[in-house]
Amino acid sequence: MVCSGLRVEFSLLMNIYLETFGCQMNRLDSELIAELLRVGGHTMTDSAAADVVLYNTCSVRDHAEQKVYSRIGRDAKAKAAGRKLIVGVVGCMAQRAKADLRRRCPCVDLICSPGQLHRLVGLIEAAAAGKAAKLHIASDPGRAEPPDQEAQRLLEEVDRTRNPLAAPSASQAFVRVMRGCNKFCSYCIVPFVRGAEHSRPPQPIYEEVKKLVEAGRSEITLIGQTVNSYCYRQGDSAVRFGDLLEFLSPIADLRRLRFVTSHPVDFDRPILEAMRDLPNVCPYIHVPPQSGSDAMLAAMNRKYTRGEYDTLIDAAREIVPDVVFAGDFIVGFPGETEEDHLASAELIRRTSYKNSFVFKYSPRPGTQAAKKLADDVPEAVKKHRNNELLAVQREVGLAHHRSYVGRSVEVLVTGPSRRCDKQPAPATADSMQLMGRSRGDHIVIFDGPRSLTDQYITIKITDANDLTLFGEMEELQ
Ligand code: 5AD
Ligand code: SF4
Repeated sequence: MVCSGLRVEFSLLMNIYLETFGCQMNRLDSELIAELLRVGGHTMTDSAAADVVLYNTCSVRDHAEQKVYSRIGRDAKAKAAGRKLIVGVVGCMAQRAKADLRRRCPCVDLICSPGQLHRLVGLIEAAAAGKAAKLHIASDPGRAEPPDQEAQRLLEEVDRTRNPLAAPSASQAFVRVMRGCNKFCSYCIVPFVRGAEHSRPPQPIYEEVKKLVEAGRSEITLIGQTVNSYCYRQGDSAVRFGDLLEFLSPIADLRRLRFVTSHPVDFDRPILEAMRDLPNVCPYIHVPPQSGSDAMLAAMNRKYTRGEYDTLIDAAREIVPDVVFAGDFIVGFPGETEEDHLASAELIRRTSYKNSFVFKYSPRPGTQAAKKLADDVPEAVKKHRNNELLAVQREVGLAHHRSYVGRSVEVLVTGPSRRCDKQPAPATADSMQLMGRSRGDHIVIFDGPRSLTDQYITIKITDANDLTLFGEMEELQ
């Protein structure tokens, strides 16, 4: 790495602790950050041994931000007690709450927005090079300002030049296809902190997938805030998401191609046909409805009706064999009545999701909902509705998973099961409880040797609960 004047002055190689909150986008950003730091000669470590702690943060709900404030509070105490520590806030909170962080958290030394990751190593080194009294900030322009094209180019370089061997799993990796969001759902902070939607050109995506697959990552998950809104325009032509799947699918040894998260409005027929026709595109669709009620969907600015959502689910069922759905729901959005809530419960039953994530509405400052609508559903009602939707989801999840009993599914083994992680080491390496994922993204638990990790295997399903399939090994593929 080139030594700038700053780096010469900076003599320490630092031990860095990085904690990640939030979505897949943050998980990928953290992987890329860790690699940039390693290339810079620094070492990743646990929080007790760290010279630098970095929080890669999420602003989607208040709860996620409060967790980070509490971590920073703990760091402030440690610093006050004399520990030498650089504290950095990266990601969505760095963009949304930078004024708050400056005011409330004097122990924070650096703040780096999601679009400025290429500057993070420099910021840390500047903070370490004796300039810790000063707050080091790299922040994204607001949506009203012109985009910073140089920052976009440098950010693209971070993805394009990533080390394929740095992906935390030896068989799976995320690849970003787009950044930002233009949908402006009335409750959501993402368009403000992640900026305008921007699709990457197809060729560098292809090269990145190929490089990862050649390094053994045979299951690739394409990610974007609304991944299926992907649209790369050049002149008069446009490459849409279905085209991108078709472009990537033939890559040799790419066994599974997945994508998250989808927006119902942009789920066109070519995507469903690509899922049907391309053998390595997995039949799993995470397509959050947020609510089953038209009144709520309109207030949320989701841009579709309940009927249109149902039509999409029916078309997916008709076109894509064995398609599996996952959903997100928000309960207690302003004005949500019992009837609206029951419509969400009914939608869970109708769609029969494999799993649903249910969130209590959390007003985010600056969003249309926070500005214009009173947060008028009491906390106790939100909690009750949250539990009710989860109970319905458990019922449909159980029926969904049970429908696999007696069938054989292909599983990519991800390693020992969580239960096994907590147990003492087994007597022989041949008898552990392993965990993997089916093509439909089911969690599958079975017994086998640890050496199966990162391999594909056929499992005969013998039992199920609301979230998990259980089975026995048939054969190694
Ligand atoms: N309050 C509660 N849940 C939210 N989500 C996004 N914004 C909010 C909010 N203000 C949920 C949506 C989205 C998921 C990632 O987080 O369900 O799909
Ligand atoms: Fe947020 Fe809506 Fe964009 Fe999803 S589609 S990131 S919920 S604004």
